[in-house]
Amino acid sequence: MPAGAAPEDKELLKQLAKIGGLHDYVYTSSGELAEKLQVSQQTASRKILELLDAGLIVRRMGTRKQLIRLSPSGVEVLRREYADYRALFQSGEGISVRGRIVAGLGEGRYYIGREGYRKAFGKLLGFDPYPGTLNVEVEPLDREKVAEVKDMDGLMIQEFQAEGRTFGAVKCFRAEIQGVEAAAIFPLRSHHTNVIELISPHFLREKLELADGAEVTVRIEIGQRA
Ligand code: CDP
Repeated sequence: MPAGAAPEDKELLKQLAKIGGLHDYVYTSSGELAEKLQVSQQTASRKILELLDAGLIVRRMGTRKQLIRLSPSGVEVLRREYADYRALFQSGEGISVRGRIVAGLGEGRYYIGREGYRKAFGKLLGFDPYPGTLNVEVEPLDREKVAEVKDMDGLMIQEFQAEGRTFGAVKCFRAEIQGVEAAAIFPLRSHHTNVIELISPHFLREKLELADGAEVTVRIEIGQRA
């Protein structure tokens, strides 16, 4: 039933939630709800009965007003609605960022080669990364976009202990560089947004014939789930 709730039912549930009916009983009247929904009082009373029949709300009668709250299935209807909107606003086309290939400090090979990270990348992204990170220096106008992406929900690798030290948490986003599969990885501890680090199942420099300074476009997928 929850999935099939009609749009007007969802609207009524939303109005009830807004006046506090999500977590507790609220005193309300069909007149008050009618006004909020911009329908007649008869329609509001009928809707309340329908939602009661459908098990989406629970009611206790008072003398003039009634005590109403959403039932667990009613809450579930709104939760799904919320998930739909969240997915809508977080996904879409992804974000394109332009930049140039730059050399790093040679640390990528060490980190990406650690078994803890490799296993986690395999599990989250479904590929065994080439040992290294391809660094893309983001063009100034696109740096704001990168800062935004970093704050979004990504695929998380939690910090772990190995070889007597701690390896920090990393947030990953599936990505593509010139149409080739990759992932953008952001160490949580680092705050800079000038450079994006990419991992990929491919040796990207060779596959895409990229020398330092080459101009590339990276498309980062957002709103993703593991
Ligand atoms: O020296 P640097 O920090 O730039 O690189 P690294 O992370 O140790 O990676 C070794 C080399 O492989 C570098 O030239 C990277 O640009 C390149 N690389 C690549 O072409 N494709 C990947 N998927 C990962 C790294």
